Amino acid sequence: SGDSSIAARLLAWYDAHHRDLPWRVTPGAFARGTRPDPYRIWLSEVMLQQTTVEAVKAYFRTFIEKWPTVAALAAAPAEDVMKAWAGLGYYSRARNLKACADIVAAQRGGRFPDTEAGLKELPGIGAYTAAAVAAIAFDRPAAVVDGNVERVVSRLYSIETPLSEAKPEIRALVEKLVPETRPGDFAQAMMDLGATICTPRRPRCMLCPVREDCSAILAGDPERFPVRLPK
Ligand code: ADE
Repeated sequence: SGDSSIAARLLAWYDAHHRDLPWRVTPGAFARGTRPDPYRIWLSEVMLQQTTVEAVKAYFRTFIEKWPTVAALAAAPAEDVMKAWAGLGYYSRARNLKACADIVAAQRGGRFPDTEAGLKELPGIGAYTAAAVAAIAFDRPAAVVDGNVERVVSRLYSIETPLSEAKPEIRALVEKLVPETRPGDFAQAMMDLGATICTPRRPRCMLCPVREDCSAILAGDPERFPVRLPK
């Protein structure tokens, strides 16, 4: 049925069924069409790098309450930031978080770069986080590929290549799927679909907005994808 109709169906599903996550709302910004706050998107994406959504929620709320802006985080003593991070693990993330806030506040007037390339120059922002922030905060048509998205795409196209070797192919397919309008919502829709419908075990295909486009359903066994190499 075509890439644009897959994106359109995903966006309509996202409008009705998206998860209400704390970084997706900017207090006071209730008008339609208001962009998310890049500071909130960056903070959430760094926390989500190696931690689950459920575990991140409480830490995210604590950080935003203590430090509502990147300038506030830059002004905080590093020791306080490390203390607030305690329990999230991977403490180099917290050190990079603080270093990044210091640069954005001191050298960029508190404004994050609005491109993948600009974002990647900052401490703690790798390829994945740069794509996620560019797409979600700035509506850039970046290909945001995490484990959830790899699973969704492996199933949509019933990719028989083992996942460890299929990553370039998956990225190319995501690049073709990203729509010109609402690429940020598209990225979040793919993540939510993978987290709530296209789950690793027992996917809820009857509720999937793109089941008619899904090659793994035709192949009879969506759970078989992504294919893994035997250990
Ligand atoms: N995992 C990583 N980034 C996410 C996001 N923005 N929303 C939901 N899950 C995520």
